[in-house]
Amino acid sequence: MTFAEKYGPWALIAGGSEGIGASFARQIAAQGVNLILLARKREPLQELAQQIRQAANVQVRAESVDLSAPDLNRRVRELTAGVEVGMVVYNAGAESRMVPFLDRPLEELMRVVGVNVTVPTMLLHELAAAMRDRRRGAIVVVGSMAGFAGGSRMAVYTASKAYEQMLTETLWWELKPFGINVLMLIAGSTKTPAMARMGVNLEGTGQPVMDPDDVAREGLDNIENGPTWVAGEHNRAAARFMCTADRRAAVEMVSSSADAMG
Ligand SMILES: NC(=O)c1ccc[n+]([C@@H]2O[C@H](COP(=O)([O-])OP(=O)(O)OC[C@H]3O[C@@H](n4cnc5c(N)ncnc54)[C@H](OP(=O)(O)O)[C@@H]3O)[C@@H](O)[C@H]2O)c1
Repeated sequence: MTFAEKYGPWALIAGGSEGIGASFARQIAAQGVNLILLARKREPLQELAQQIRQAANVQVRAESVDLSAPDLNRRVRELTAGVEVGMVVYNAGAESRMVPFLDRPLEELMRVVGVNVTVPTMLLHELAAAMRDRRRGAIVVVGSMAGFAGGSRMAVYTASKAYEQMLTETLWWELKPFGINVLMLIAGSTKTPAMARMGVNLEGTGQPVMDPDDVAREGLDNIENGPTWVAGEHNRAAARFMCTADRRAAVEMVSSSADAMG
């Protein structure tokens, strides 16, 4: 079966207008799968949709949606009415600033919980059910190296990425008998517009910074190699260390990397 037969005819990408999400969009469209792209800012979303329509012979629906809106599942039901979503990429979820836990307003922290905990839970509960009925499909959730251990100025971010990882790994196990490939794609430092806006010095960690296209490509190439795939050989080495090191060493590693970003 081709990629489109297994995972089409439509893919929904949450956070699909820039960075890793845009790379997924281009690469999935190149396989002949139609796209539903969700993001907040209308302009980059529409621009990407137009580029993809011109480059690939697929339909693209680009919808300005805030994933943390309370009526998200209703919106998603409307947007996906009458189309078969065979693939979901849950990409959105980067941190917007690094601040100690107690110095950050609670409502800001709860927005991170919304986008990285509540929303992927609701969205996957909604969309994976139809995949299970059809006995085919794919789910990719983009996680972070920061989900392997707590780390400086990222309390809720690291905790929420760990949640995403456990959720996704469990879905890998539960949906495998139904022919659905589920993958937690762990990214390390990646050059995205969100990171540029945040103003962090990704190079400060001394580790290579990845290109979003390479992260997405590794995800798609390893879609059958779940539950978890870490993008980039240097990140895989660091992940192996964090999974075997004692917790103090793991937290120190994440914290010193975070502090080196400024
Ligand atoms: N970049 C890195 O160095 C890095 C490292 C480790 C892990 N990751 C993971 O990789 C994923 C992508 O990260 P990223 O750096 O590209 O930044 P990101 O902000 O997580 O993702 C960017 C995409 O998500 C959309 N988005 C963000 N918040 C949204 C919301 N509330 N509602 C709807 N759409 C939303 C953005 O468009 P709008 O802003 O227009 O909404 C954009 O399309 C995240 O899950 C992140 O945790 C990234």
